[in-house]
Parts: sequence; C-alpha cells; structure tokens
Amino acid sequence: MSSNKSLLILPGDGIGAEAMAQVRRIIDWLERNRSLRFDLDEDLVGGCSIDAHGVPITDAVMDKAFNADAVLLGAVGGPKWDNIDFSIKPERGLLRLRKDLELFANLRPAVCFEALADASSLKREVVAGLDIMIVRELTGGVYFGEPRGITTLPDGTRRGVNTQVYETEEIRRVVRVAFDIAKARTGRLTSSEKANVMESGILWREEAQWVHDNEYPDLSIQHMYADNCAMQLVRNPKQFDVIVTDNLFGDVLSDIAAMLTGSLGMLPSASLGAADAEGKRRAMYEPVHGSAPDIAGQNLANPIATILSFAMALRYSFDLGEDADLVEGAVQDVLAAGYRTGDIMQPGMTKTSTTGMGDAILAALDKRQG
Ligand code: IPM
Ligand code: MG
Repeated sequence: MSSNKSLLILPGDGIGAEAMAQVRRIIDWLERNRSLRFDLDEDLVGGCSIDAHGVPITDAVMDKAFNADAVLLGAVGGPKWDNIDFSIKPERGLLRLRKDLELFANLRPAVCFEALADASSLKREVVAGLDIMIVRELTGGVYFGEPRGITTLPDGTRRGVNTQVYETEEIRRVVRVAFDIAKARTGRLTSSEKANVMESGILWREEAQWVHDNEYPDLSIQHMYADNCAMQLVRNPKQFDVIVTDNLFGDVLSDIAAMLTGSLGMLPSASLGAADAEGKRRAMYEPVHGSAPDIAGQNLANPIATILSFAMALRYSFDLGEDADLVEGAVQDVLAAGYRTGDIMQPGMTKTSTTGMGDAILAALDKRQG
C-alpha cells in the first residue's frame, strides 16, 4: 500500500452530487485494483451549506480544505439561492476557497475528443484535434479588487464599482505557471489583455514580456487583445497552444474555448497555488460546467468533467500519472464505444444516464486493467 492521499470532496449543489457519486465509484475501483488508498472526507459548499449553516462555506470546512492534499469540488448554486444576500451567495463559497487557499493559477484544458468533433457548433475541421490550455489568473483582478460595492449618490441614483488591479508578482507567478506548461507542449504562449484601454493591461503585457525575456527566452510569447483572442478562438482555435490571461478575461475566454470542444460537460479544471519547499502545491479540482439545476436529481447529468477533474488530481496532486492515464483512457474508450449522455447525444449513439456512464467507465477500466 502506498501512503495516504487526503482528498476533500465537496459535491455542492445541483448535479454536483450525482456526478461526484460516479467519482466515488472510480475511487473504489482504484483502491481495489491499483493498491491505492485515499483518505476521503466529504462536506458542504454552496447552497446546501447555506441551508445547513447560513453561510456558503463554514470555517470548519475551510480548515479541512487547508489540511487536505487536494479538494475536489462539484458545482455550486441554483435558482433557490438566486435572491439571497450577495455576501452569502453560493458562489462566494467557491470564491473563498480560491482566494483563501491562494489558488492563483487556474488550468482549463479545452480538448476536442475525436468522438465528439461533430458535436461542436463549429465545423469538424476547425475543432478536430484541438488541444489548448487556458491558464486563468484566479485570485486577483476585478473579482477581488477594492474599492468595490454599490453606493447611493446624493440625487438618489446609484453607482456600482469594481476595481481591476494587478501587481507585478501576481502577474509574473501565473505567467511562469503558463510557461512551465508551454515548455512541456509546443513552447508557444499567448498572453491576452486589453493594453489598448487599460493600464492594468499595459502592466500585464510588460510583466509577461519580462518573464519571457528573463526566464523563458527560448520559448515564444505573443500578446493579443482579449477581444481579438475571443474572435480568433472561434475563427481558428488551433493556432493556440497555451493562453494566459487575467481573471475576468479568463472566465470568458475559457467558456468560449469550452464550447469549441462540443460540450461543457466534458471539461475539467485544476486550480493551483504556489509550490512549497517539497514542490507540493495546494490544489482544487472542479468541472468547468455549473450545477445545471434544470436536470439535477434526474440521473441525466454528464459525470465526465468531474471524473476528468479527479484524473487531473491524480496527475497534479498525487503524482499518479499512470492512474490518471488509465481513467482518461477509460473515458475515451466509452466515448469511442458510442455511449453518450443527453448533452453530447448524437444520432446512432447509445443514450445513457449518469450512473450508466459510470457503469460503462468502470467496465472500460476493468478491460484496460485486463
Ligand atoms: C467559473 C464560474 C465562476 C467564476 C462563478 C461560478 C463564480 O463562472 O468558474 O468560471 O466566475 O469564476
Ligand atoms: Mg465561468
């Protein structure tokens, strides 16, 4: 038996629980078949935590998150909590995890699975073989900048303020993560901002160039305005390899990139903090999709993004690359065999449920294991 690997599971709201139940089954499989032992804990985040405790995440759960090797999160939010006070909205739980754990680098791969190239809203030839990595800054920018808020003006009308702010080191550290990833790929990095209108964009561009010139002179960097980047992603996405950008532009660009691949239901993400002395990073893994309240509780959700997020945890937090390959391979097998949940259904394929997809992936794991 190898040593314990502690994983805090936060299924959250909506389809989070159903998708996470399939991950549990895969963890059981790995423990039975691969001599691994995970130290699992599960708790509340988002709307379910508001219902139970009045806040979207408790200090006790934050403590657990600090002490775990990795956090695996499902999804948060739903119409039930839409009109709740802004300061305790379900999303605040997620944002607190990101901010307090200092998970500044958010890795969002957009990979087009061969079996799904026809499910994209773009033509097959534009997206087939697509493999980009968006590195989104996750703990700064307009999401957290001060001052912020809504104030009432003397004439009774109101003013809403948010602040886009970045400092040198916040930019450099995330650009370094992006270059490290680019180094293991084609070595091409695109840095995206709005230096034509924003001073924070000028700083972003200069610091990104500084990291290139001083630390990664052998790799290549190009700078692209974020609006152009959005357009180029739809026009010719395969021109990109790794894209690094700020929190807000990353939010938008990663949704565009996700849709290119055919389904939001397929895409995992990893959020990483700084490496400690042993090279270990604090980390949280979550699907890019949301809580999909319209289909929650009906055994319809696609669990693949959550399963692939767990695979990223195996790779990045537990150094179990072989096991990550196994899980990702099983997902590919199942797609190649024609199994589809509703969101990726195509003519002639076998429509399956959340648990049915779990069954098929477990069977594929058995087969790969021999
Ligand atoms: C995301 C989501 C979040 C964000 C929301 C749920 C707060 O859209 O992870 O992309 O805006 O960062
Ligand atoms: Mg988003």
